[in-house]
This record gives sequence, C-alpha cells and structure tokens, in this order.
Amino acid sequence: MNEVIKTLTNHRSIRKYKSDMVNDKDLDMIINAAQSAPSSINGQQMSIVAVKNPKTKSKIAHLCGDQKWIDEGPVFLVFLSDFYRAKIGAEKNNLDLIITQNTESTLVGAIDVGLAMGNAIAAAESLGLSIVPIGAIRMNPDEIIDILDLPEYVFPMCGLVVGYADEESAKKPRFPKEAVYHEETYNRDIKHIIDKYDDQVSEYMKKRTNGESDRNWSQTVSSIYKSVYFPKVSPALKKQKYENK
Ligand SMILES: Cc1cc2nc3c(=O)[nH]c(=O)nc-3n(C[C@H](O)[C@H](O)[C@H](O)COP(=O)(O)O)c2cc1C
Repeated sequence: MNEVIKTLTNHRSIRKYKSDMVNDKDLDMIINAAQSAPSSINGQQMSIVAVKNPKTKSKIAHLCGDQKWIDEGPVFLVFLSDFYRAKIGAEKNNLDLIITQNTESTLVGAIDVGLAMGNAIAAAESLGLSIVPIGAIRMNPDEIIDILDLPEYVFPMCGLVVGYADEESAKKPRFPKEAVYHEETYNRDIKHIIDKYDDQVSEYMKKRTNGESDRNWSQTVSSIYKSVYFPKVSPALKKQKYENK
C-alpha cells in the first residue's frame, strides 16, 4: 500500500482539538491541494473562506448547532459553491449566466466542492493534521452568508475543522465492498448486508460511547432522513441566485 492510499484509508473524523495553530505553510499546501482537484469545465466552481478569528468561529459553532469542535479547532475552512467568477466572466463576454437557474448548477457546485474538500482532507491528514467536515454550516445559511459576506452566486456547502487531534479515535467501519461496488448493473439484494452492518456499527458505538449508545446505521440515518433536517437551505439557495428550476 503506498502512502497516499494509506492516508486515505486511515481517515477518521476528530471532534477534540488542541489549541495549536496550523502553520501557514501547511494551510497553503491544503488549499493548493484543494484547488488542484478537477472541476466541471474547468469552471472551478469552488472557493474557500478560512476562519481563524475565535469570536467568528464561536458564532459559527453556535449557528452549526453548538458543535464545540468548531470553537476548539484553530482553523475552520468553509467550502463554497461559487459561480460568482462565472458571473463576471459572463458579463465580460456580454452573455447571460443562465446555468444558475437550473438544478445542474447546484450539482456542479456540490461536486466541485466535494472533490476539493476530499483533496483538502487527504492533504491535511497526510501532514499529520486532523479534520471533521461540518455539513451543519447549512443549518442557518442566511447568517453564515452574512458573516462571511458572500455575494450572490456563492453558497456555503460544507465546513471543515482543521487542527491537531486531542483524542484517539477508532476507525469507523464502512459497508463491505459488495454493498457499494457493483459490476455492470446495480445489485439490489443488499438487505442482508445492511443487517450485518447494523450489528457491526452497534458494536462500534457501544465501544465508542462506553456503552451509552448502541445505535446502528439504519436507526441513525432513518431518524435523520425522516424530515428535511436543514429546511432553510432551499430558500437560501434561491436568495443566492441558485434558482433550481
Ligand atoms: C458532508 C459531510 C458533512 C458532515 N457534517 C458533520 C457535522 O456537521 N458534524 C460532525 O460532527 N460530523 C460531520 N460529518 C462527519 C461524519 O459524521 C463522518 O464523516 C462519518 O460519521 C464517518 O466517520 P469518519 O469520518 O470518522 O470515518 C460530516 C461529514 C461529511 C462528509
């Protein structure tokens, strides 16, 4: 196994951080790795705002449902879907920016951000840093947009805490390959794999919480997906000119 694969397969999210700052050189390499990801039509529909100011981080932590690891970690990177540069490009060429009227632009931004964040995570972990992604940045999007002073055509998709771990964390089990990898056509016969995985996650949770919780995978996802957990996203996207028609 080479070093890249080792880093990728050794990933775990960390939710307790030391106060040590991430040095500028490391942060630079992380951003460079993020920017080096492929992007749809080389549009580079992704930007990052780094937040280090403790007061701002504290506000953001609160808006993300009081996730204290955002407060604790020295750097919080907010990954943005970004068609603002494309808008300037359109104006420069006397053309209308039509794509943001359609759901396609939301998908393009999400994919570009996902690829960039994946690179950033791998780069950070390869440098001995730890991370936890923060989807809850979308819990109160209007306030986040205001704090970061985001223009129209820019939307906060996901945050990323970066810092030095102050806890050991066991690797979270994944589905076996048969559940996620298909050859030629999709195999729907996976209920038995889910049953087995539920037991595995339940055991993992018991260990992780010292017996306090044995919540399995399907209990967790079904309890979250029984409602639209971030209902403010849809109107906030529209306000940022992602019309999703
Ligand atoms: C897009 C995305 C959003 C996430 N949002 C949060 C979050 O708001 N808070 C949190 O503690 N973890 C969050 N996570 C971390 C996941 O819970 C974690 O990746 C998952 O449980 C697997 O665990 P692992 O990363 O340790 O392997 C998020 C992960 C992703 C990819």
